[in-house]
Amino acid sequence: MHILVTGGAGYIGSHTCVAAYAAGHTITILDNLSNSSPESLNRVEKISGRRPRLVVGDIGDRSVVRSVLDSEKFDAVIHFAGYKAVGESVAKPWEYYQNNVAGTLVLLDELRRHGVRNFIFSSSATVYGNPDPKDLPLKETAPLSALNPYGATKLWLEEIMRAMAAADPAWHFLLLRYFNPVGAHESGLMGEDPAGIPNNLMPYITQVAVGRLKELTIFGNDYPTPDGTGVRDYIHVCDLAEGHVAALAKVADLPGCTAINLGSGSGVSVAQLVASFEKAIGRPLPHRFGPRRPGDAAACYADASKALQLLGWKTKRNSDDMCRDAWNWQSKNPNGYKNA
Ligand code: NAD
Ligand code: UFG
Repeated sequence: MHILVTGGAGYIGSHTCVAAYAAGHTITILDNLSNSSPESLNRVEKISGRRPRLVVGDIGDRSVVRSVLDSEKFDAVIHFAGYKAVGESVAKPWEYYQNNVAGTLVLLDELRRHGVRNFIFSSSATVYGNPDPKDLPLKETAPLSALNPYGATKLWLEEIMRAMAAADPAWHFLLLRYFNPVGAHESGLMGEDPAGIPNNLMPYITQVAVGRLKELTIFGNDYPTPDGTGVRDYIHVCDLAEGHVAALAKVADLPGCTAINLGSGSGVSVAQLVASFEKAIGRPLPHRFGPRRPGDAAACYADASKALQLLGWKTKRNSDDMCRDAWNWQSKNPNGYKNA
């Protein structure tokens, strides 16, 4: 298949390019490089021996989107492009709604004009809001809510796609709800390279381990969880990438709009992840306990059975693999793609 990958130079996008090449697909990327470096595509080429065509442009720029769609015929789109930082979305809601929602509306409009209707969307477990413990593990039918503008952009885009599919049966939308993507390609050539101080747990841990940050603060040890720290469903980014390849294989057989969790199906606590990481680096990781982070859920993990049933996909890598690969990447690239 020839796939248009928006946001393909980013963290999940670049790993998905490697997995899609391994499956024999052809790739064109549309990315404005607002949160990524084209160096990630040099790394894709090193691993895969193939280099995606990169169009540097914005999904909300109709003339760019139109020229990409006029230039080649695409069988499917994987839509990663968007802003993703929860805290930033509270400070800059207009930018989030503009980039994520308005940008995607332009993309979808041009796709329907060009007759491209196989669409795989990066949604998020954020659409489950702060889940009620009685709904765990979360099925796709669990109640949906948004706790911040970022979450609202995912929820609204899902809603827009559901309505578009109901109105036009030619659409095939797969809403892939990712749980907590972490880790890196096993080569150590590609990984997560956040700008500024990381908000998320794994990049914070790796930057402490490499000496860029002093210590990890574990946000809360008094949650109603087995060890008191927050529980999440961490998923290795290469498993997630392979989930997209499985989705590509099935999207043409799944008309309408289908939400699918991509998670491991099991919960891991912050303390457990820190212990796995300490095992990977062979030394203690400086950390202390601090207060809960406002807005955090005690526990959030997937029921991953629908992905297995519909896509024939499940995760293969565990927390030890995630920590080993995240550390391999960070230790070989202490400053990420900068100065590469
Ligand atoms: P990322 O920031 O590394 O990648 C996103 C890419 O999109 C970047 O390369 C950025 O330059 C590009 N981009 C942003 N706005 C654009 C625009 N208007 N036009 C063109 N390109 C644009 O993020 P990621 O972690 O790879 O996430 C990919 C997608 O998955 C996002 O939609 C994100 O919301 C979603 N997601 C991520 C996580 C996570 O924890 N990483 C969890 C759930 C969902
Ligand atoms: N945590 C710490 N210390 C840190 C950072 C995080 O203890 O420095 C804890 C959090 O309190 C939480 C766990 O580590 O218990 C995971 O936190 P992350 O920030 O890595 O991830 P979240 O589950 O809060 O949220 C992430 C994305 C959201 C997305 C969600 C589900 O940031 O956008 O996963 O996909 F919606």
